[in-house]
Amino acid sequence: MSESISRAFSKDALEAYAASQRQRFEEALGEFVEIPTISSGGAHRADCARGAAWAADMIRWMGGEARIVETPGNPIVHGMLQADPSWPTVTVYNHLDVQPAERADGWHTEPFTFVRSGDRYFARGTTDDKGPALTALWGAKYAAENGARINIQFLWEMEEEIGSPHFDGAIRAERERLRTDSVVVSDTIWISRTRPAVPAGLRGLQGFRFTLETGLTDQHSGVTGGAARNPVAEMCALVADCLDARTGRVKIPGFYEDVEPPSKQELEGLRKSGFSVPAFKKDHMFRSLRTNDPLEVMKKIWLQPTFELHGIAGGYQGAGIKTIVPPRATAIISCRLVPKMKEQKIARLVREFVRRKNPDVKVELEHGLPAYRGPITGRHADAIKAAMKFAFGREPVFVREGGSIGAVLSMERVLRAPIQFLGLSLPDHGYHAPNENYDWGQARGGMAAFAEYFRRLGAEA
Ligand code: BES
Ligand code: MN
Ligand code: MN
Repeated sequence: MSESISRAFSKDALEAYAASQRQRFEEALGEFVEIPTISSGGAHRADCARGAAWAADMIRWMGGEARIVETPGNPIVHGMLQADPSWPTVTVYNHLDVQPAERADGWHTEPFTFVRSGDRYFARGTTDDKGPALTALWGAKYAAENGARINIQFLWEMEEEIGSPHFDGAIRAERERLRTDSVVVSDTIWISRTRPAVPAGLRGLQGFRFTLETGLTDQHSGVTGGAARNPVAEMCALVADCLDARTGRVKIPGFYEDVEPPSKQELEGLRKSGFSVPAFKKDHMFRSLRTNDPLEVMKKIWLQPTFELHGIAGGYQGAGIKTIVPPRATAIISCRLVPKMKEQKIARLVREFVRRKNPDVKVELEHGLPAYRGPITGRHADAIKAAMKFAFGREPVFVREGGSIGAVLSMERVLRAPIQFLGLSLPDHGYHAPNENYDWGQARGGMAAFAEYFRRLGAEA
């Protein structure tokens, strides 16, 4: 390493860079999260387009080039910092769409108003995933301006939260222009603030919507109850047939057929992961859990499939009692899948089981994607480890994570490049929860981690 590069990539120099950029970073994050780029439901398409234009301008303002790639859904932002054909290219993936949020869900401040409180930044999208996206951009700018010999490409999607329905098609069509030697995804979560983590895999997902209609309108329960079917009660019974809600065990025959037991090495990894049940409960504000055994909790959130009831609707929800028999009920459900499970098979098993238990229930499929298993050794993984150690003082643990990112499988297949993860979110940042937040510690360290990662990739080539 030349002397000037090693001076530029010292911890002190990166600390000074972050400090000098803090105000600009906060202003940018503030503007960005105030654009409600909600992908679900389709009501915010214009905001998504506005968010994409804002993001492309941001890349340009940071010295790069950017364009908007249209899809049948929300656009994708494609940016580029440096383009020397003799250097390798790394692609940074983030998503710019966010989960819906309403103040009434338990937010202490407006969800789409940026609020800074000390080192914390509150608003929907701060940690999932606009904060990490901007952190990577700031790290990339530093790397590019300080001699890292690498082209840094940005692929910013706006439909991740709805299962990336158009991402695969879009990157297939753009394959030539998106050529890359590797990909780094920043959209995952650590075990705690003092335990950086890198996913050794992600779970897949199959979503469902169950509906049952046994009449047309509310009817008097004194006049019809007893003889009338009750769709809400039948839906509850059906869910109880599918799932032992106390243990989380799925009762649908064949559901666990393809699940592999964890390897010895993986169990060892769990034991060393630094996971703590009290911290998990505190971070996610749970009063109690299905089990308090740490190994069981880790298996349930990372290594096993689930059957989750996200919401059930139907019947009277207001004050007091309204003595009606409701005509219809809906349940929104999804199954998290682990390696070897096929989303089509799970969809078929669930459909058949429901048909047997209650043939009047209509089952509609929502997005489906298989699980992902990533490499945890090799030069890219080593560079991630070193970059995290450099920036945060501690090497990351590699354990499978429980969430899903549809785009990862597409990028692996279409771009044919190795994928790494450099996530920056923390459990108490409130992924998908009210009062979502990001913080300066993760942004400052993240800028250094990304800069160092880019320098290493450039230096090895
Ligand atoms: N960032 C998450 C994925 C994630 C969560 C990774 C936890 C690692 C740990 C992502 O934004 C997300 O929420 N994905 C959705 C995808 C789904 C709608 C297909 C998810 O996991 O529910
Ligand atoms: Mn995310
Ligand atoms: Mn998310």
